[in-house]
Amino acid sequence: MRYRGSRYRRAGLLPGLIVLGWIWDCALGGGRAHAPAWLGALIIVGGISLLAARGATDPSPPEPAGPATPAATGPIVIEPATPADLPRLVEVEVAADTLFAVAGYGSTPGPASVDELASARLLLVARRQPSHPPSDPAATNPAPDDPEPVGYIRVEIVDGQPHIEGMSVRPKQMRRGIGTALVDAACHWATEQGYSQITLCTFGDVPWNGPFYARLGFTEIPAPSPALRALRQREVRLGLDGMGRRCVMRRPLGEPPDDAPAR
Ligand SMILES: CC(C)(COP(=O)(O)OP(=O)(O)OC[C@H]1O[C@@H](n2cnc3c(N)ncnc32)[C@H](O)[C@@H]1OP(=O)(O)O)[C@@H](O)C(=O)NCCC(=O)NCCS
Repeated sequence: MRYRGSRYRRAGLLPGLIVLGWIWDCALGGGRAHAPAWLGALIIVGGISLLAARGATDPSPPEPAGPATPAATGPIVIEPATPADLPRLVEVEVAADTLFAVAGYGSTPGPASVDELASARLLLVARRQPSHPPSDPAATNPAPDDPEPVGYIRVEIVDGQPHIEGMSVRPKQMRRGIGTALVDAACHWATEQGYSQITLCTFGDVPWNGPFYARLGFTEIPAPSPALRALRQREVRLGLDGMGRRCVMRRPLGEPPDDAPAR
Protein backbone atom coordinates (compact mmCIF):
# COMPACT_ATOMS: atom_id res chain seq x y z
CA MET A 1 0.00 0.00 0.00
CA ARG A 2 1.35 3.46 -0.87
CA TYR A 3 0.55 6.76 0.79
CA ARG A 4 0.55 9.98 -1.07
CA GLY A 5 1.57 13.42 0.23
CA SER A 6 -1.61 15.02 -1.16
CA ARG A 7 -3.71 12.89 1.21
CA TYR A 8 -1.92 14.41 4.23
CA ARG A 9 -2.20 17.89 2.74
CA ARG A 10 -5.98 17.35 2.46
CA ALA A 11 -6.03 16.10 6.09
CA GLY A 12 -4.57 19.44 7.18
CA LEU A 13 -7.43 21.43 5.63
CA LEU A 14 -9.99 21.25 8.49
CA PRO A 15 -7.46 21.90 11.31
CA GLY A 16 -6.20 24.85 9.26
CA LEU A 17 -9.71 26.28 9.06
CA ILE A 18 -10.05 25.95 12.84
CA VAL A 19 -6.82 27.90 13.37
CA LEU A 20 -8.06 30.58 10.97
CA GLY A 21 -11.37 30.75 12.91
CA TRP A 22 -9.48 31.16 16.17
CA ILE A 23 -7.41 34.02 14.68
CA TRP A 24 -10.62 35.65 13.43
CA ASP A 25 -12.19 35.22 16.89
CA CYS A 26 -9.09 36.88 18.47
CA ALA A 27 -9.45 39.81 16.06
CA LEU A 28 -13.07 40.23 17.24
CA GLY A 29 -11.91 40.21 20.89
CA GLY A 30 -13.19 36.81 22.08
CA GLY A 31 -10.06 34.77 21.37
CA ARG A 32 -8.64 34.43 24.91
CA ALA A 33 -11.99 33.50 26.50
CA HIS A 34 -12.78 30.96 23.79
CA ALA A 35 -9.24 29.52 23.62
CA PRO A 36 -10.00 26.19 25.43
CA ALA A 37 -12.92 25.50 23.07
CA TRP A 38 -10.84 26.28 19.95
CA LEU A 39 -7.95 24.16 21.26
CA GLY A 40 -10.25 21.21 21.99
CA ALA A 41 -11.80 21.44 18.52
CA LEU A 42 -8.34 21.59 16.96
CA ILE A 43 -7.14 18.47 18.80
CA ILE A 44 -10.27 16.41 17.99
CA VAL A 45 -10.58 17.42 14.30
CA GLY A 46 -6.82 17.22 13.73
CA GLY A 47 -6.64 13.73 15.27
CA ILE A 48 -9.59 12.41 13.26
CA SER A 49 -8.22 13.87 9.99
CA LEU A 50 -4.82 12.30 10.59
CA LEU A 51 -6.29 8.89 11.38
CA ALA A 52 -8.52 9.03 8.28
CA ALA A 53 -5.52 9.92 6.10
CA ARG A 54 -3.46 7.04 7.48
CA GLY A 55 -6.29 4.51 7.12
CA ALA A 56 -7.40 5.40 3.58
CA THR A 57 -6.36 2.92 0.84
CA ASP A 58 -4.59 3.90 -2.33
CA PRO A 59 -7.10 4.90 -5.05
CA SER A 60 -5.11 3.29 -7.86
CA PRO A 61 -6.60 -0.05 -9.05
CA PRO A 62 -4.86 -3.20 -7.82
CA GLU A 63 -2.75 -5.27 -10.19
CA PRO A 64 -4.87 -8.08 -11.65
CA ALA A 65 -4.36 -11.51 -10.15
CA GLY A 66 -2.42 -14.10 -12.12
CA PRO A 67 1.06 -14.28 -13.59
CA ALA A 68 3.16 -11.14 -13.66
CA THR A 69 2.83 -8.95 -16.76
CA PRO A 70 5.52 -9.94 -19.23
CA ALA A 71 8.52 -7.63 -19.25
CA ALA A 72 8.15 -4.64 -21.56
CA THR A 73 11.70 -4.86 -22.90
CA GLY A 74 13.94 -7.58 -24.26
CA PRO A 75 14.15 -9.17 -27.70
CA ILE A 76 11.05 -10.66 -29.32
CA VAL A 77 11.19 -14.26 -30.48
CA ILE A 78 8.55 -15.62 -32.87
CA GLU A 79 8.02 -19.36 -32.90
CA PRO A 80 5.28 -22.00 -33.29
CA ALA A 81 2.81 -22.15 -30.40
CA THR A 82 2.95 -25.05 -27.97
CA PRO A 83 -0.17 -26.76 -26.55
CA ALA A 84 0.52 -25.03 -23.22
CA ASP A 85 0.22 -21.63 -24.97
CA LEU A 86 -3.31 -22.15 -26.25
CA PRO A 87 -5.36 -21.03 -23.20
CA ARG A 88 -3.00 -18.03 -22.85
CA LEU A 89 -3.68 -17.06 -26.46
CA VAL A 90 -7.41 -16.95 -25.76
CA GLU A 91 -6.61 -14.50 -22.93
CA VAL A 92 -4.36 -12.46 -25.22
CA GLU A 93 -7.17 -12.11 -27.78
CA VAL A 94 -9.74 -11.08 -25.15
CA ALA A 95 -7.32 -8.46 -23.77
CA ALA A 96 -6.33 -7.19 -27.24
CA ASP A 97 -9.93 -6.81 -28.38
CA THR A 98 -10.70 -4.40 -25.53
CA LEU A 99 -8.91 -1.87 -27.77
CA PHE A 100 -12.04 -1.72 -29.95
CA ALA A 101 -14.37 -1.04 -27.01
CA VAL A 102 -11.99 1.52 -25.48
CA ALA A 103 -11.77 3.34 -28.83
CA GLY A 104 -15.58 3.38 -29.12
CA TYR A 105 -16.06 0.80 -31.90
CA GLY A 106 -18.05 -1.58 -29.67
CA SER A 107 -17.43 -5.13 -28.59
CA THR A 108 -16.09 -7.84 -30.89
CA PRO A 109 -17.56 -11.36 -30.89
CA GLY A 110 -15.93 -13.86 -28.54
CA PRO A 111 -12.34 -15.08 -29.02
CA ALA A 112 -11.23 -18.18 -30.94
CA SER A 113 -11.55 -21.36 -28.89
CA VAL A 114 -8.63 -23.53 -27.79
CA ASP A 115 -9.83 -26.19 -30.29
CA GLU A 116 -9.84 -23.70 -33.17
CA LEU A 117 -6.35 -22.55 -32.23
CA ALA A 118 -5.12 -26.13 -31.89
CA SER A 119 -6.25 -27.01 -35.43
CA ALA A 120 -4.83 -23.86 -37.10
CA ARG A 121 -2.69 -24.39 -40.20
CA LEU A 122 -0.08 -22.05 -38.72
CA LEU A 123 -0.05 -20.63 -35.20
CA LEU A 124 2.91 -18.44 -34.30
CA VAL A 125 3.45 -16.78 -30.93
CA ALA A 126 5.63 -13.83 -29.99
CA ARG A 127 7.53 -14.12 -26.73
CA ARG A 128 9.65 -11.45 -25.15
CA GLN A 129 12.91 -12.85 -23.85
CA PRO A 130 14.19 -11.31 -20.63
CA SER A 131 16.67 -8.54 -21.44
CA HIS A 132 18.89 -9.34 -18.43
CA PRO A 133 18.89 -13.06 -17.56
CA PRO A 134 19.95 -13.61 -13.95
CA SER A 135 23.68 -14.27 -13.65
CA ASP A 136 23.05 -16.91 -11.00
CA PRO A 137 20.87 -19.71 -12.47
CA ALA A 138 20.02 -20.81 -8.92
CA ALA A 139 18.59 -17.38 -8.10
CA THR A 140 15.20 -17.43 -6.41
CA ASN A 141 13.45 -15.95 -9.47
CA PRO A 142 15.10 -17.43 -12.56
CA ALA A 143 13.68 -16.34 -15.93
CA PRO A 144 11.18 -18.95 -17.15
CA ASP A 145 12.34 -21.09 -20.11
CA ASP A 146 9.16 -20.28 -21.98
CA PRO A 147 8.07 -16.69 -21.30
CA GLU A 148 4.36 -15.95 -21.62
CA PRO A 149 3.24 -15.21 -25.20
CA VAL A 150 2.65 -11.49 -25.75
CA GLY A 151 0.98 -11.95 -29.13
CA TYR A 152 0.05 -14.45 -31.80
CA ILE A 153 -1.01 -14.86 -35.41
CA ARG A 154 -3.25 -17.62 -36.76
CA VAL A 155 -3.26 -18.61 -40.42
CA GLU A 156 -5.72 -20.92 -42.20
CA ILE A 157 -5.87 -22.00 -45.84
CA VAL A 158 -8.75 -20.45 -47.79
CA ASP A 159 -9.10 -20.99 -51.55
CA GLY A 160 -5.78 -22.79 -51.52
CA GLN A 161 -3.96 -19.71 -50.18
CA PRO A 162 -2.97 -18.63 -46.65
CA HIS A 163 -5.44 -16.37 -44.85
CA ILE A 164 -4.69 -14.51 -41.60
CA GLU A 165 -7.63 -15.59 -39.48
CA GLY A 166 -6.59 -13.72 -36.35
CA MET A 167 -3.83 -11.70 -34.77
CA SER A 168 -3.63 -10.20 -31.29
CA VAL A 169 -1.04 -8.49 -29.12
CA ARG A 170 -1.31 -7.82 -25.39
CA PRO A 171 -2.40 -4.19 -24.87
CA LYS A 172 0.67 -3.29 -22.79
CA GLN A 173 2.93 -4.57 -25.57
CA MET A 174 1.16 -2.91 -28.52
CA ARG A 175 2.87 -0.41 -30.83
CA ARG A 176 6.32 -1.93 -30.38
CA GLY A 177 6.46 -3.70 -33.73
CA ILE A 178 5.22 -7.11 -32.53
CA GLY A 179 2.21 -7.12 -34.89
CA THR A 180 4.46 -6.21 -37.83
CA ALA A 181 6.92 -8.97 -36.87
CA LEU A 182 4.09 -11.53 -36.66
CA VAL A 183 2.77 -10.58 -40.13
CA ASP A 184 6.29 -10.72 -41.56
CA ALA A 185 6.87 -14.15 -40.01
CA ALA A 186 3.57 -15.48 -41.42
CA CYS A 187 4.42 -14.08 -44.87
CA HIS A 188 7.89 -15.63 -44.68
CA TRP A 189 6.37 -19.01 -43.83
CA ALA A 190 3.82 -18.70 -46.66
CA THR A 191 6.54 -17.81 -49.18
CA GLU A 192 8.66 -20.77 -48.08
CA GLN A 193 5.59 -22.98 -48.54
CA GLY A 194 5.27 -21.83 -52.16
CA TYR A 195 2.12 -19.72 -51.82
CA SER A 196 1.73 -16.64 -54.01
CA GLN A 197 -0.44 -14.41 -51.80
CA ILE A 198 -1.85 -14.05 -48.30
CA THR A 199 -5.28 -12.59 -47.45
CA LEU A 200 -7.21 -11.32 -44.44
CA CYS A 201 -10.53 -9.69 -43.47
CA THR A 202 -10.35 -6.57 -41.34
CA PHE A 203 -11.89 -3.19 -40.51
CA GLY A 204 -10.95 -0.94 -43.41
CA ASP A 205 -10.88 2.30 -41.43
CA VAL A 206 -9.69 1.31 -37.93
CA PRO A 207 -6.12 2.66 -37.56
CA TRP A 208 -4.62 -0.63 -36.27
CA ASN A 209 -6.40 -2.66 -38.98
CA GLY A 210 -6.81 -1.48 -42.63
CA PRO A 211 -4.25 1.38 -42.58
CA PHE A 212 -1.79 -0.76 -40.57
CA TYR A 213 -2.02 -3.64 -43.08
CA ALA A 214 -1.81 -1.20 -46.02
CA ARG A 215 1.59 -0.07 -44.68
CA LEU A 216 2.64 -3.74 -44.67
CA GLY A 217 1.85 -4.11 -48.38
CA PHE A 218 -1.79 -5.29 -48.27
CA THR A 219 -4.38 -3.83 -50.64
CA GLU A 220 -8.16 -4.18 -50.61
CA ILE A 221 -9.69 -6.79 -52.91
CA PRO A 222 -12.80 -5.28 -54.57
CA ALA A 223 -14.17 -8.66 -55.72
CA PRO A 224 -13.15 -11.46 -53.31
CA SER A 225 -13.36 -15.13 -54.30
CA PRO A 226 -16.43 -17.19 -53.29
CA ALA A 227 -14.63 -18.72 -50.28
CA LEU A 228 -13.58 -15.28 -49.02
CA ARG A 229 -17.13 -14.01 -49.62
CA ALA A 230 -18.40 -16.90 -47.50
CA LEU A 231 -16.04 -15.81 -44.70
CA ARG A 232 -17.44 -12.30 -45.00
CA GLN A 233 -21.01 -13.64 -44.76
CA ARG A 234 -20.05 -15.36 -41.51
CA GLU A 235 -18.68 -12.05 -40.21
CA VAL A 236 -21.98 -10.34 -41.11
CA ARG A 237 -23.84 -12.97 -39.09
CA LEU A 238 -21.47 -12.39 -36.13
CA GLY A 239 -22.36 -8.68 -36.21
CA LEU A 240 -18.89 -7.39 -37.15
CA ASP A 241 -20.27 -5.16 -39.90
CA GLY A 242 -22.25 -3.25 -37.27
CA MET A 243 -18.93 -2.04 -35.80
CA GLY A 244 -17.44 -0.54 -38.95
CA ARG A 245 -16.63 -1.08 -42.64
CA ARG A 246 -15.17 -4.53 -43.20
CA CYS A 247 -12.95 -5.36 -46.16
CA VAL A 248 -10.84 -8.17 -47.60
CA MET A 249 -7.15 -7.47 -48.23
CA ARG A 250 -4.33 -9.34 -49.94
CA ARG A 251 -0.57 -9.12 -50.07
CA PRO A 252 1.36 -10.70 -52.92
CA LEU A 253 4.27 -12.81 -51.73
CA GLY A 254 7.78 -12.89 -53.12
CA GLU A 255 9.41 -15.57 -55.24
CA PRO A 256 9.24 -18.95 -53.45
CA PRO A 257 12.53 -20.78 -52.90
CA ASP A 258 13.47 -23.49 -55.43
CA ASP A 259 12.63 -26.31 -53.03
CA ALA A 260 9.17 -24.91 -52.17
CA PRO A 261 6.20 -27.22 -52.87
CA ALA A 262 4.44 -26.46 -56.19
CA ARG A 263 1.06 -24.74 -55.54
C1 LIG B 1 -3.45 -5.23 -34.72
C2 LIG B 1 -2.43 -5.49 -33.63
C3 LIG B 1 -2.16 -7.00 -33.55
C4 LIG B 1 -1.14 -4.75 -33.97
O1 LIG B 1 -0.15 -5.11 -33.00
P1 LIG B 1 1.07 -4.13 -32.63
O2 LIG B 1 2.08 -4.95 -31.94
O3 LIG B 1 0.53 -2.93 -31.93
O4 LIG B 1 1.59 -3.74 -34.09
P2 LIG B 1 2.78 -2.74 -34.50
O5 LIG B 1 3.45 -2.21 -33.28
O6 LIG B 1 3.63 -3.48 -35.47
O7 LIG B 1 2.06 -1.57 -35.30
C5 LIG B 1 0.83 -1.11 -34.88
C6 LIG B 1 0.36 0.06 -35.73
O8 LIG B 1 -1.08 0.06 -35.68
C7 LIG B 1 -1.52 1.40 -35.42
N1 LIG B 1 -2.07 1.44 -34.07
C8 LIG B 1 -1.96 0.51 -33.12
N2 LIG B 1 -2.64 0.88 -32.01
C9 LIG B 1 -3.16 2.07 -32.30
C10 LIG B 1 -3.96 2.97 -31.58
N3 LIG B 1 -4.36 2.70 -30.34
N4 LIG B 1 -4.33 4.12 -32.18
C11 LIG B 1 -3.93 4.40 -33.43
N5 LIG B 1 -3.17 3.58 -34.18
C12 LIG B 1 -2.80 2.43 -33.61
C13 LIG B 1 -0.31 2.29 -35.54
O9 LIG B 1 -0.18 2.68 -36.88
C14 LIG B 1 0.80 1.36 -35.14
O10 LIG B 1 2.04 1.74 -35.67
P3 LIG B 1 2.91 2.88 -34.93
O11 LIG B 1 2.94 2.49 -33.48
O12 LIG B 1 4.24 2.79 -35.61
O13 LIG B 1 2.18 4.16 -35.18
C15 LIG B 1 -2.91 -4.99 -32.23
O14 LIG B 1 -3.24 -3.62 -32.37
C16 LIG B 1 -4.13 -5.74 -31.71
O15 LIG B 1 -4.00 -6.80 -31.10
N6 LIG B 1 -5.32 -5.16 -31.95
C17 LIG B 1 -6.56 -5.76 -31.48
C18 LIG B 1 -6.93 -6.99 -32.31
C19 LIG B 1 -6.90 -6.72 -33.79
O16 LIG B 1 -7.34 -5.67 -34.28
N7 LIG B 1 -6.39 -7.71 -34.54
C20 LIG B 1 -6.29 -7.65 -35.98
C21 LIG B 1 -7.52 -8.21 -36.57
S1 LIG B 1 -7.46 -8.19 -38.38
